[in-house]
Amino acid sequence: MEHSEIKKENVIRIIVTAGPTQEPIDPVRFISNRSTGLFGYLIAKEALKRKHNVTLISGPTQILPPKAGKSVSIETADDLLKALKKEIKNADCLIMCAAVSDFKVKQTSAKKIKRKGQIKLELVPNKDILKELAGYKRHKLFVGFNLETSNLVKNAKLKLKDKNLDLIVANSLTKSHNPFGNNMLDIKIIDKYNNILHITHKSKSFIAYVLLDKIEELWYEIKEQGEV
Ligand code: C5P
Repeated sequence: MEHSEIKKENVIRIIVTAGPTQEPIDPVRFISNRSTGLFGYLIAKEALKRKHNVTLISGPTQILPPKAGKSVSIETADDLLKALKKEIKNADCLIMCAAVSDFKVKQTSAKKIKRKGQIKLELVPNKDILKELAGYKRHKLFVGFNLETSNLVKNAKLKLKDKNLDLIVANSLTKSHNPFGNNMLDIKIIDKYNNILHITHKSKSFIAYVLLDKIEELWYEIKEQGEV
């Protein structure tokens, strides 16, 4: 499709979540993960280039948000869920690229914790955001990401089913393949029909391009079947 000629009815309302969440310990410290946010931002950029309607919801990163589209900043996983509940009703597609912290601190301290020997932090699991949004899914495309240290495809397929996704982008973390901050990736894009696209040693922007092609294909298929 020629992007500059996209028809109004082919515009997809896309939410991209990106970056890490930060879960406070006290006013100064937090727990988080190694996400830089780059992949999510490149996906948002590619979607904007194709003239889709993009809302980028991002945790703290060093990257400037795109000038076009809408940008929302969040810190914690709970903030992200709240922002998504607000935005999801007006979206066709959710690309859940954010690296949501699996845990948060049960009791945060209002004051900076003093260094006086050993302390214990009690962590409780954050809500699974994709699962929390399941009730909004009807006729929307949900795209998830996973990072595995072993059994990549098997675990990705399980996640695709478990989280009721249309697509999953499966990424591995091994000694020879570290996706954090690295622009070249080996990934697999798996769809709900179990088709697997193997992409080897390609840039994140190239993968964003392929992913958007796949999203458009699935979305226009849903529309043609009159499911929207
Ligand atoms: O379960 P896991 O974290 O491996 O799943 C990864 C996918 O689920 C990603 O798309 C991530 O954004 C999303 N996720 C979520 N809520 C969480 C943790 C991850 O929606 N609490």
